[in-house]
Amino acid sequence: MTEVRTFDAEAVFAAVSPAEAVERTRTAFLRHRAGEWVMPAKTYVDAPPHGDFRAMPARGEGLAILKWVTSFPGNPARGLPVVAGALLVSSAETGELLAIVDCGAVTSLRTGAAAAVSAQALAREDARTAGLIGCGVNGAWAARCLAALGFTDGVCTDPRTEAADALASELGWRASSREEAVSADVVVTVTPGDEPVVLAADLRPGQHLAVLGADAHDKAEVELGAIERCALFCDEWEQASKGGELSTGVSAGIVEREGVTELGAVLAGQAEGRTSADDITLFDSTGLAIQDLGIALAVLGR
Ligand SMILES: NC(=O)c1ccc[n+]([C@@H]2O[C@H](COP(=O)([O-])OP(=O)(O)OC[C@H]3O[C@@H](n4cnc5c(N)ncnc54)[C@H](O)[C@@H]3O)[C@@H](O)[C@H]2O)c1
Repeated sequence: MTEVRTFDAEAVFAAVSPAEAVERTRTAFLRHRAGEWVMPAKTYVDAPPHGDFRAMPARGEGLAILKWVTSFPGNPARGLPVVAGALLVSSAETGELLAIVDCGAVTSLRTGAAAAVSAQALAREDARTAGLIGCGVNGAWAARCLAALGFTDGVCTDPRTEAADALASELGWRASSREEAVSADVVVTVTPGDEPVVLAADLRPGQHLAVLGADAHDKAEVELGAIERCALFCDEWEQASKGGELSTGVSAGIVEREGVTELGAVLAGQAEGRTSADDITLFDSTGLAIQDLGIALAVLGR
């Protein structure tokens, strides 16, 4: 019987740098777009009032994965992470289980990397400043991935000022107000999605927003009036229209399929990204299993 290897969070972070996570995530979007990697729909299992579980399968490059992962927003108050679970990695040739990988670490790397890939594809070429709203577990990795792309000037904001201070000092960024973070060239939101943190009045021409926190129905980080002003992109329409930031706009009738472009299509050169320096681009990330597969490949490759 094949030995099942286990990789804890420390092993995952040691194996995959933020820069590699960005590359692996970009590749994942491209392979999926090309139809080489497959990904059945994510399944939600609600666990009210605490949060929900998600089952996320994908197959590609000789592997098949299943991520069983939580979003339990109240967990930090209990000293527990919002995101936890395991990622099973099997051989797509023999079906054998090969590895069990810590899913919090994989999630953080691929989530942060998606924000960075979206900035590479959609931000203005002269974008220099980054603003991070929500400096928790996944926000921190978004900032690290942007820093790996060369964003040396950034602002962190969080009501937990100690989290914003620690991250800012790690990256050589500044901790400051929401108003300052939201005025950056690239704005990333990774809050629990309880209230809008990007308002219509905040927007200025040329910005890129990567909104990651609202990854299930009934969460939102961006005011509807702000969504209306943006050129809209998402990781996958099926998922984002039902359980992402854009789902609120879909329910309100202001967001339609034709008005939203998938990031993979832009990366593959099959669709337009930013069309002018004044466009305000918004990328809605809900988190895809293909991104997890990309990181799992990197971990097992070591
Ligand atoms: N899109 C994806 O792929 C993806 C992946 C993982 C997690 N998520 C979602 O991202 C969100 C955050 O997850 P996490 O694991 O980083 O949680 P976390 O609790 O570690 O971090 C959330 C942070 O947001 C801060 N915050 C709360 N309200 C805020 C506000 N109004 N302004 C600024 N900061 C505020 C909190 O203090 C905390 O530091 C959750 O909703 C989670 O479901 C999305």
